[in-house]
Amino acid sequence: MTQVLTVDPASPDPGAVAHAAACLRRGGLVVFPTETVYGLGASAFDPAAVARIFAAKERPSTDPLIVHIAEASALTTVAARSPAVLVPLAARFWPGPLTVVLARGPAIAEAVTAGGATVAVRMPAHPVARALIASAGVAVAAPSANRFSRPSPTTAAHVLADLDARVDVILDAGPTPIGIESTVLDLTGTRPRVLRPGAVTLEMLREVLPDVVMDRTAGPVTGPMPSPGLLGRHYAPRAPLTLYTGDPAKRLPRIVEDVRRLVASGRRVGALAAPSAEKALQDAGATVVPLAEAGDLEGTAARLYAGLRHLDALGVDVILAGSVESETGLGAALADRLHRAAEDIVRV
Ligand code: TXA
Ligand code: MG
Repeated sequence: MTQVLTVDPASPDPGAVAHAAACLRRGGLVVFPTETVYGLGASAFDPAAVARIFAAKERPSTDPLIVHIAEASALTTVAARSPAVLVPLAARFWPGPLTVVLARGPAIAEAVTAGGATVAVRMPAHPVARALIASAGVAVAAPSANRFSRPSPTTAAHVLADLDARVDVILDAGPTPIGIESTVLDLTGTRPRVLRPGAVTLEMLREVLPDVVMDRTAGPVTGPMPSPGLLGRHYAPRAPLTLYTGDPAKRLPRIVEDVRRLVASGRRVGALAAPSAEKALQDAGATVVPLAEAGDLEGTAARLYAGLRHLDALGVDVILAGSVESETGLGAALADRLHRAAEDIVRV
């Protein structure tokens, strides 16, 4: 049985938090909100509990987990050492949506790091996550609380759709504010590398780390993965998604044309679009989930995964979406997630 406890996102009920924390200490699985997406947590020091995370998600054991801490002092229990640059990084970006990859500490369960020598660490900003980790008194290993390869959950309803009866407690604090996963920054190499773009952008990181680079070779899904190609479609809806890139002026007419063609051939078509494009797409026969206007990257990120899940729940056969125009700031993270969710990419 999964117990759902509704809590206030800004000041969660201490009783509910203590109950969930005790569950973590006993080796249970607790789903909790972070400012990015919901996480599926277990004690990072408890190998059996960590094994349950992989089983609940049906996640391959080769994909390592992020360890969540509430205080910088916990770093000594998690990492073997931390580079000097982590001090200004943490001062600027923690708590917040930045995950750093460090040398792994010996107390961390081996399954957390997929047997690797490095560990990903993050200090979330969400008051519920902070209260839970502090109350548990352990570091919390937590991937996003979705079944493997599904879009990350931004509400407790998304979590229940994927993991009901597979987790012990869900702390439901409403929608998560950012809506896409944290930036993953590898600090173990000769040069700092962004492995997964997120709300802490490359431009922001450059202010602290002038030599930081975006890893375009490994791709955002990283870790000791023998064949990243196995993870081709990730964050993906059940219905195949076609992503339209290229000239923004030509994009909407092309999507409208494709919606008409698909509808005429008997397909149920879903579309993710700016509110200003909703009517044209509806008139063509699509079920439209409005995200946000093109320039509103925060609004788009906050609604993206809920939109994909909503169209899946409606049972559409295909989903069409335009990519983001800006690849700076949060645009890089959004473009990354859209490309990973896509089965086809059409350049117009
Ligand atoms: O925002 C987030 O990061 C959310 C919330 C719950 O904190 N968590 C999350 O976890 O997205 P997950 O497991 O869905 O994604 C973690 C990513 C994966 O791409 C994984 O391969 C990478 O971080 N990762 C974990 N440990 C790593 C390591 N030691 N080295 C390189 N990449 C690592
Ligand atoms: Mg995930």
